[in-house]
Amino acid sequence: MKIKSLIISTILMATSCNLTAKDIQLPEPARKGGMPLMEAINNRHSTREFSEATLTEQQLSDMLWAACGYNRPDKRTVATALNRQEMSAYIVTPEAIYKYEPKENKLIFINDGDHRNVFAMQDFAKKAPLNVALVADMAKQDKEVFAGMTVGAMSNNIYLWCASEGLNTVVRASFDQEGMKKALKLNENEQVLLVQTVGK
Ligand SMILES: Cc1cc2nc3c(=O)[nH]c(=O)nc-3n(C[C@H](O)[C@H](O)[C@H](O)COP(=O)(O)O)c2cc1C
Repeated sequence: MKIKSLIISTILMATSCNLTAKDIQLPEPARKGGMPLMEAINNRHSTREFSEATLTEQQLSDMLWAACGYNRPDKRTVATALNRQEMSAYIVTPEAIYKYEPKENKLIFINDGDHRNVFAMQDFAKKAPLNVALVADMAKQDKEVFAGMTVGAMSNNIYLWCASEGLNTVVRASFDQEGMKKALKLNENEQVLLVQTVGK
């Protein structure tokens, strides 16, 4: 009996190791520094040219924290109607898709492979090494317009952070909604509202 339970727990451990093997623990977000706010607002703009260069893990952590991290124990960097916190962010790289887990500051592995074709209708976005999908869970929020406002605030925080870091970005509503839902493995209540391309 003891041997049997040992085998079962070994299998369970191996399975859970496999499931989490591709998750990424990000460094702590900086939460300070950067360009003065008024300068960042002055520099905010859209760019549609991206090189192959990728962001560092520190930059990913800072950007995702700015988009929807916790800046207080239970509240976020962006406002949400009725504090429903219906939003989430996914990152799409040429190799894989991850969901940002803001409490633990982790990237949770979602899917393998290059899904940029469904994330982009425009050529520059198909080639860019990083897209951020801004998602709302409509099971948590009453009105789509409220979710849209929250996602708009997430996008603007990414714009301002990019301005401060000297990075290029553009937010996009042009993408394949159904294709993205599949690629991100969303449930029926979750919707991609915007996708933001970020890079150098
Ligand atoms: C909701 C929304 C959807 C957008 N969708 C796209 C898009 O699909 N493709 C694109 O190239 N730009 C898109 N943009 C970016 C706008 O074209 C851009 O913000 C506008 O031209 C003004 O330029 P600026 O951001 O440099 O001020 C979108 C912007 C918003 C707010």
